[in-house]
Amino acid sequence: MPNTQKTFLRALAGETLPVPPIWLMRQAGRYLPEYRATRAEAGSFLDLCYNPDLACEVTLQPLRRFDFDAAILFSDILVIPQALGQHLAFKQGEGPQLEAIRDASGLGKLSVEGIHDTLGPIYETVSKLSHAIPSSTALIGFAGAPWTVATYMVEGKGSKDFPNIRRFAYGDPDGFAKLMDILVEATTQYLLKQVEAGAECIQLFETWGGVLSETGFNRWVIEPTKQIVANLRAVHPDLPIIGFPRGCGLHLVDFKQKTGVTAVGLDSGVKLDWVAENLQKLGPVQGNLDPMLLITGGDPMFDETKRILDTLGKGPFIFNLGHGITPETPPEHVGQLVDFIRDYKG
Ligand code: CP3
Repeated sequence: MPNTQKTFLRALAGETLPVPPIWLMRQAGRYLPEYRATRAEAGSFLDLCYNPDLACEVTLQPLRRFDFDAAILFSDILVIPQALGQHLAFKQGEGPQLEAIRDASGLGKLSVEGIHDTLGPIYETVSKLSHAIPSSTALIGFAGAPWTVATYMVEGKGSKDFPNIRRFAYGDPDGFAKLMDILVEATTQYLLKQVEAGAECIQLFETWGGVLSETGFNRWVIEPTKQIVANLRAVHPDLPIIGFPRGCGLHLVDFKQKTGVTAVGLDSGVKLDWVAENLQKLGPVQGNLDPMLLITGGDPMFDETKRILDTLGKGPFIFNLGHGITPETPPEHVGQLVDFIRDYKG
């Protein structure tokens, strides 16, 4: 049985709660002045990710303001390619830049052996957090799902159309499968260490699952996710795992059933009554307020929040956004949102 004080774990165990647990993707981040101050103290974004004291501090910052039901480890999905040996830099205002691997001939420079040497400070952050967070707050560990991490590894940066990775995956499926195998193995090991260090739930971010064909989705999203879930459950049979395949609409039922994730994260584009009817029957769901409504605030934000609570609140549900908080978000809107959800009597 999950620790019954933690509403987040109760919802993941399938309970329908009168008030859903709340946390927000990217709840630690640039919209908070105290985050910007700590990042400046760390030197750079990556220095912050690998500094256990400061990463712990920025994870706790939103909890001091908003009384969320869960905290998410402060790190990034791209520490895995870096630990595998691929050069990574975050240039101010430009997002991530990696030395692109365009075909199977570039895989030789990646090595799973030794990833923990790079990732050790992150496990230390998880361990510190497990002692530092309030007793009613759950601790979420995370990783990028293999396809999404691979998009950055192959494109070398963020992309709109993903031409290089689609060419690689469709044109040389056996070569591309080797990259996915490396990522499945590294991600499994990385997440097992997070759980050992105190993470109570794992979220897999599949931000770019929506760019694949149906065949591609089955092979490069469902399959690797299913393998990671099986690997983790072989060691921790009851570990709650949230899969968040963004932009994947009608694939969500297949994704839930075939991967074995505990819960599915919803982007802002899904049809909520379809979710209530077809997906929430199979397990808890999490989402899906459009982060832009958190910038505008006021009635549009409250009306949409009410619609989400009315449609998904009758089953196992965790309130969240449909994607991460943006830097322009006024922090007071976050407080108003949390109060509205806690006070709402459907
Ligand atoms: O949610 C949290 O509070 C936990 C921390 C977290 C970060 N990134 C911190 C971060 C998590 C869970 C992520 C996941 C992540 N990282 C994803 C998947 C989710 C999503 O947003 O789609 C992806 C695709 C990345 C890769 C990444 N990291 C990009 C493309 C960027 C640049 C874009 C941007 O927002 O600047 C980052 C940087 C990043 N990761 C920041 C933070 C707080 C901003 C860095 C800064 O402080 O300048």
